[in-house]
Amino acid sequence: MKLKYLVSAMAVMMLSSGTAVAKSTDLATFHADMDSCQSCHTKPIKVSDSETHENAQCKSCHGDYAELANDKLQFDPHASHLGDINCTSCHKGHEAPKFYCNECHSFDQKDMPFSDAKKKQPWDTGWDQDKIQKAIAAGPRESTGVLVVGAGSAGFNASLTAKKAGADVILVEKAPFSGGNSMISAGGINAVGTKQQKDHGVDDSVEWFIEDAMKGGRQHNDKKLVTILAEKSADGVEWLESLGANLDDLKRSGGARVDRTHRPHGGKSSGPEIIDTLRAATKAQGIDTRLNSRVVKLVVNDDNTVVGAVVHGKHSGYYMIGAKSVVLATGGYGMNKEMIAYYRPTMKDMTSSNNITATGDGVLLAKEIGASMTDIDWVQAHPTVGKDSRILISETVRGVGAVMVNKDGNRFISELTTRDKASDAILKQPDQFAWLIFDNQLYAKAKMVRGYDHLNMLYKGDTIEKLAEKTGMKAADLAKTVSDYNGYVATGKDTAFGRGDMPLNMTQSPYYAVKVAPGIHHTMGGVAVNTTASVLDLQSKPIVGLFAAGEVTGGLHGYNRLGGNAIADTVVFGRIAGENAAKYALDNK
Ligand code: FUM
Repeated sequence: MKLKYLVSAMAVMMLSSGTAVAKSTDLATFHADMDSCQSCHTKPIKVSDSETHENAQCKSCHGDYAELANDKLQFDPHASHLGDINCTSCHKGHEAPKFYCNECHSFDQKDMPFSDAKKKQPWDTGWDQDKIQKAIAAGPRESTGVLVVGAGSAGFNASLTAKKAGADVILVEKAPFSGGNSMISAGGINAVGTKQQKDHGVDDSVEWFIEDAMKGGRQHNDKKLVTILAEKSADGVEWLESLGANLDDLKRSGGARVDRTHRPHGGKSSGPEIIDTLRAATKAQGIDTRLNSRVVKLVVNDDNTVVGAVVHGKHSGYYMIGAKSVVLATGGYGMNKEMIAYYRPTMKDMTSSNNITATGDGVLLAKEIGASMTDIDWVQAHPTVGKDSRILISETVRGVGAVMVNKDGNRFISELTTRDKASDAILKQPDQFAWLIFDNQLYAKAKMVRGYDHLNMLYKGDTIEKLAEKTGMKAADLAKTVSDYNGYVATGKDTAFGRGDMPLNMTQSPYYAVKVAPGIHHTMGGVAVNTTASVLDLQSKPIVGLFAAGEVTGGLHGYNRLGGNAIADTVVFGRIAGENAAKYALDNK
């Protein structure tokens, strides 16, 4: 029997019986018992920070993710939306495994192989200032044209663009997997003037895109940045498509007057589609991508020109990379409790829909060398995060037709309003939560809803009355809400709350509900940048050699970001940052 099937069968036995087959206390001992350290490692042993050889060894024996996916399991981590990430993200050789899924979900993991192995202190707890200074004093261990920090969509786009422009690129990521927040994003990418809009007969304009973003941001956006976003958005979609992404579907996000959010066809979540595409493109381009590699300091010369960074590698320790230019693409700070408590104390106890990687590193690194911040205290609560969980119920669900009601079953706002208004409205309802309700038509149309069902987040009733009974809503109120709403769909006019787009009525059993409440979703504020993605200092002058893109930056979204504009930001400004960082590096060789 091939090893991959043997292991697969073992996994099923362990997961179903609860008894581990192997006696070894950790994965490494198990393999050493079977063969030798060379089951996993090179001889002599040399482990790179990305643990590349070890992961290739895992896959050569056990198969890749697709081969390991097991339909006998209710929740299969090998078929997750995180895509093809390092095996060693979860299966640690010499210590207890870390079940990354549980950073967002709460699956029972007691039967994960070698769960009883010893836990170790995470490799990057605390930054050792002494070692950082020693790394700087020792000088660069290596040099590159462009160093990109953070491997989410902005970082991948910056790296690919810089490489295409002819620069040498190193891309570093602190997590054991790439993807960042973009990987778990579910909505899509906003763009105007695309072939998709034309094919769907959507009449849109750059001016409307700008007006909608500015209105959503309460006119506090940097209009120059918004204009670039709008003008280059269609190009961004084409670029992703040229790399292999499917973005054929269109839907409307909150605050947009037309359908301009581009998504993969068939209802797939956009984040995995885009990140899988960018990961593959980066690999195909041979870009030196290093996981488990955290930038802990930006290094500047006497003129405050950025000349590199100190990296803390999981296996290689602290070392300096010399770089002509550095792109910060580290994401926001929605998972940094201290930063939230400091900048937005009223949200300190709120759940967050963010990936665990969103810890605000770029803001801290840039601040330390005198970067200016824009709107740093503006944090967006997404109105529909699963109540008491970290799972985002995508705006797509409302865009496709779901209706939002309070605990009694009454509507209280247009479902397609902006996130800030929807969140505020929910927090004014009794018990500060809401239900999203929909019928079987939506269930069939929006694939992601099947994912929520799989996660047991949905309540289901064969009739509206049964749904009310299961959720505790008032049956008469809910029945009236649904009947009124169906009337609005029929006439095309929502006389109660002015919802602009009502693609589905609610007439087809079974009916569903999911409980939601606001959760931290996006940090609009961040490092100040200009239109070339250069980071600005406190006098609003560019810090030479430093660029930034994506959620680490502030200014583009004003006080409130529209759904679909974050991925657009990472693609459009990721590419601009990559292009200008490459230009600077090549001009200053
Ligand atoms: O609700 C969502 O799907 C989120 C999209 C976004 O934040 O752009």
